[in-house]
Amino acid sequence: MSSNITVNVCMGTGGIAAGGVQVMEAFREELSAAGIADARVEKNCKLHKVGCRGFCARDVLVDITIGEQTSTYQYIEEKMVKRLVAEHILAAKPVEEWLVGEDYHTFHEKQEKIVLADLGKIDPESIEDYLQVDGYEALKKVLGSMQPQSVIDTIRDAGLRGRGGAGFLTGVKWGFCAANQSEQKYIICNADEGDPGAFMDRSIIEGNPHAVIEGMIIGAYAIGATLGYIYIRAEYPLAVQRLKTAISQAKEKGYLGSNICGSGFEFELKIKLGAGAFVCGEETALIASIEGERGMPRAKPPFPANKGLWGKPTIINNVETLATIAPIINKGPEWFAGIGTETSKGTKVIALTGKIRNTGLIEIPMGMTLKEIVYDIGGGIEEDRLFKAVQTGGPSGGCIPQQHIDLPVDYEGLHSVGSMMGSGGMVVLDETDCMVNIAKFFLQFTKEESCGKCTPCRVGTKRLLEILTRITEGEGKKEDLELLQTLAEDVRDSSLCGLGMSAPNPVISTLKYFRHEYEAHINQKKCPAGVCSALLTFFIREDHCVGCGMCLRACPVDAISGEKKKAHKIDNKLCIQCGSCFDACKFNAVLKE
Ligand SMILES: Cc1cc2nc3c(=O)[nH]c(=O)nc-3n(C[C@H](O)[C@H](O)[C@H](O)COP(=O)(O)O)c2cc1C
Ligand code: FES
Repeated sequence: MSSNITVNVCMGTGGIAAGGVQVMEAFREELSAAGIADARVEKNCKLHKVGCRGFCARDVLVDITIGEQTSTYQYIEEKMVKRLVAEHILAAKPVEEWLVGEDYHTFHEKQEKIVLADLGKIDPESIEDYLQVDGYEALKKVLGSMQPQSVIDTIRDAGLRGRGGAGFLTGVKWGFCAANQSEQKYIICNADEGDPGAFMDRSIIEGNPHAVIEGMIIGAYAIGATLGYIYIRAEYPLAVQRLKTAISQAKEKGYLGSNICGSGFEFELKIKLGAGAFVCGEETALIASIEGERGMPRAKPPFPANKGLWGKPTIINNVETLATIAPIINKGPEWFAGIGTETSKGTKVIALTGKIRNTGLIEIPMGMTLKEIVYDIGGGIEEDRLFKAVQTGGPSGGCIPQQHIDLPVDYEGLHSVGSMMGSGGMVVLDETDCMVNIAKFFLQFTKEESCGKCTPCRVGTKRLLEILTRITEGEGKKEDLELLQTLAEDVRDSSLCGLGMSAPNPVISTLKYFRHEYEAHINQKKCPAGVCSALLTFFIREDHCVGCGMCLRACPVDAISGEKKKAHKIDNKLCIQCGSCFDACKFNAVLKE
């Protein structure tokens, strides 16, 4: 048996949900029982919990490394551990049938990982692990040999743009803040992450919290801040717990507190829990929330870099932005600027979801095309259905249709087709998705999350939603399309903050690319994708119906009749289009049109 064995168990939120804790415990017991001494810290066999490596659908993922050879297993359950230990670890014979397949490797091969590089490799609760992958080396370099201005220049030359949505150049923003003369300045990490479906920032913190903290300390040094806050939603308990652990470890090692690394620089870090309001991710609302006020935005300027928390110059940066700082310092601005496109440097972490085979968390070089993301990394559409669109940028973004599938993904590219990068959400839609319904889904979200301070957003999102609802319920009128368009533009142009300014994007982009679907709902009273139930007619194909009675039993309003073993019928006057019969039928006998 080799002397160097490592077992890594996925323990991000996804891994834990799939049973990671139990798998970890089973390994601990089996390894001890097998006589590999104390598995917790034993020098021969290290048992590690690691953060998310992006492919949560295959959890619990387990890596077993013997010497230089790593094998990755998928869908591991507690009861499978005994065999893994007996065969792979003790007999050095991997259990072939449980290994990940080729698609797991292709999923990772096309990615370029900077921020996610150590996720899935290091124990997020061990500062020693972080130090082993050159953790805090960038901080030591900055404090030991760089002036604040040269740190700012480095980040500006790297071309790093904020990953939280607006894409403003981080180095330039830091420069504005540094130029202010003030005894007190602040740096805030925005870990509010309110977009539905987004989990980039949570995963980064859960998998490598020290990377975010190191970026914050460097940023604080660059702008001259001595106090920082991490604003994180309370619904992220694992991330909060790992941050707390990392902060106390960093303090103990002298990377936080007074006289950091003997440089005389002082910096404290606090965690502020948010209550989970989407608008609190907007920077001025976030500041109000930390100050104890209601989380409502205010007009800008003044920008926080000049007048922020408690009226003092404040830098607010996204989690991913901050996690990118140390690699840039370590490897140099030219290295970073060499990745990506002319205007969008580096990589972007994306939450890839929707009707795609390999959903997960990915990191791509800017400029990779949508097609490469959907087909090469994502493995294509589920059940080989037709690709329809990609929705990018969360509720603030738009839908990009098939004709733009070769579009390179960067800030300008997405903007040019009426969408945006946002914080990096990407939802793949197929032929079974109704675009009017998708627009309605996002409007429902923004309407509920509008803080109500400004009229265009408060009233406008409500009216937009009413019109969309009307259309999906078959009550749409010819004038509605014109009304939707002008109202959407008005809300976009006159709202107070980014929430209202971007809320109409899903409407505007679907109207542009999928107008025919709106028209079908209004003119023919049909939903082409078969989603909007009010517009569907259900019927039973006599030649397919075996008279099993499943549909009859599933129907909540007794609209189905028929004798056993004879074809059934639906009374469309009674039918409420709930779709229960469609779901219940095992013989494809129920059709909807
Ligand atoms: C409604 C709304 C919600 C936002 N939510 C977030 C968020 O959850 N996380 C984030 O980093 N930025 C969010 N932003 C963007 C921030 O206001 C801000 O631009 C960003 O945190 C700046 O950091 P960056 O320069 O590193 O991107 C949001 C903006 C708006 C308008
Ligand atoms: S909540 Fe910001 S514009 Fe309405």
